[in-house]
Amino acid sequence: MDAKSFRQLYLDFFAGKGHAIIGGSSLIPEHDPSVLFTTAGMHPLVPFLLGEAHPAGKRLANVQKCLRTDDITEVGDEVHLTFFEMLGNWSLGDYWKPGAIQMSYEFLTQRLGFESDRIRVTCFQGDGDAPRDLEAAEIWRTLGIPDAHITFLPKADNWWGPAGATGPCGPDTEMFYDTDPDGPPDENPATHPARFWEVWNDVFMQYDKRADGSYGQLAQKNVDTGMGLERTLAALQGVPSLYETELFSPIIDRIMSLAGKPEPFAVRVIADHLRAAVFVLAEGIVPGNVDQPYIARRLIRRAVRYGREIGIAGHFLGELAQVVLLTLSDVYTELETNRDHILTALDTEETRFQQTLRRGEREFRRAVDGCRSEGQDVMPGHLVFRLYDTYGFPPELTEELAGKQGLTADMEGFRLAFEEHQEKSRQGAAGRFKGGLAERSPETTRLHTATHLLHEALRRVLGPHVEQRGSNITAERLRFDFSHPEKLTPEQLDAVERLVNEQISRDLQVTWEEMSVDEARERGAAGLFEDRYGNQVKVYSTGDWSVEICGGPHVEQTGELGRFRIVRERSIGAGLRRIRAVLETDS
Ligand code: ALA
Repeated sequence: MDAKSFRQLYLDFFAGKGHAIIGGSSLIPEHDPSVLFTTAGMHPLVPFLLGEAHPAGKRLANVQKCLRTDDITEVGDEVHLTFFEMLGNWSLGDYWKPGAIQMSYEFLTQRLGFESDRIRVTCFQGDGDAPRDLEAAEIWRTLGIPDAHITFLPKADNWWGPAGATGPCGPDTEMFYDTDPDGPPDENPATHPARFWEVWNDVFMQYDKRADGSYGQLAQKNVDTGMGLERTLAALQGVPSLYETELFSPIIDRIMSLAGKPEPFAVRVIADHLRAAVFVLAEGIVPGNVDQPYIARRLIRRAVRYGREIGIAGHFLGELAQVVLLTLSDVYTELETNRDHILTALDTEETRFQQTLRRGEREFRRAVDGCRSEGQDVMPGHLVFRLYDTYGFPPELTEELAGKQGLTADMEGFRLAFEEHQEKSRQGAAGRFKGGLAERSPETTRLHTATHLLHEALRRVLGPHVEQRGSNITAERLRFDFSHPEKLTPEQLDAVERLVNEQISRDLQVTWEEMSVDEARERGAAGLFEDRYGNQVKVYSTGDWSVEICGGPHVEQTGELGRFRIVRERSIGAGLRRIRAVLETDS
């Protein structure tokens, strides 16, 4: 079975079980500063897991593109990726454990044809926050999974969520495919991940993690599932790793043909990173030093570095990206639409990085000279780290080059410097775990409504070509990205600010209605006309000022907003502008 039929098989199966098929969302979460990327299909659904009614109903399914960078160093083995596709089905307060597990089992055994005794499962072992999941285990048993194939594990393994720091989460039951059924019977998924591939996860989301770390009960019991498309496809095709499926083999073949000494691990890393970089760039991102641009930069530079290691000469990313586009453009049309931007951004970043590497080589020579003049035969760890961090030199490369100069590199010192840096970035990242879709404070609600007023004001001042390209709200400020070719003049900024404040003074009523996408279009509603909410959408009207498709939440009257002020306006890429704005209250 190929990837295309597999996606369809999954969606058809769940449609047959009463699920509405909704579109996937962008790889960059909207209105959510707590994470850089969409990491799971549930992420865009957080408001609905918290109890808001979803226009498409209580049973949903889709395919969602996801990006996870937390296990970037595992990429290169049989089953880990940064960018991947997730197949998901959800119950929003509808079916619960028996329904979810039965459907999973039926799909795995009857539609995918997996033999029952090649399926292993894990369940939550219980702790002070939630009990041992005997219910899930009993359902598996009734379906025919023997006790020996059910493993109970702690929170670190069998609990999923929240996607940021707070919000919906719960114990899960994970399903593994045994790639070596003749292997020792006492091995289990917890101890042998290479043998047992985790293919699917059913999460029983009945808890709400609060900011203080405690767990409350959600208004409804939800089921959130996620199946890794690439892994499951590899299991279905009986190939030794996901890199042998048709989603990867053309990319791998091309890398092999370019490489002087193709080393499988490096080849896989390049394939994964390039695919991920292409999808990030397709969101209009330009490589840079913070947030999503930084991840794009890191993926691209790691790919180039590994390319050099296996002897690929000259620029190669553009050529490879064309192959990536061929593998997925039929499903993700944004790849074709943004082809020029993707190829240009890759090429520019590759050139920049090559300059950096050349500077790094000079820096390396200086470091060697420095050691020699001081009569040292060990290159200090902080220099090895600097070459790694600033110039992208893999520490092993520095070690090898230093060896050729008769020096040893202090790898332990490198490790310490590296860990210290990791710790600092972790502390930095913790700062971003505020807000998010799960956060529904009065401040963020007011800023949501202000975003609508701003969007319409921009269209009126600059023209109807203005379209929303991104939105990100914290309790302190809003950030709005939109299409417009040039810098806004001070007069335009004033006019926009004035128009928004006028609508606030008019104390307009905010109302919403549910309607079909076609009706919304006829009404002239702004917003994303993707089918991600299903065919029915929620349309918010702000008095006579604006009509926009949106999931909410919003204030009831614009008079509640306070005074609107634009703090900053700047370019974030070709034809893209970003505005930061705040609401000021007199208190
Ligand atoms: N959200 C769950 C996961 O990503 C299904 O594993």
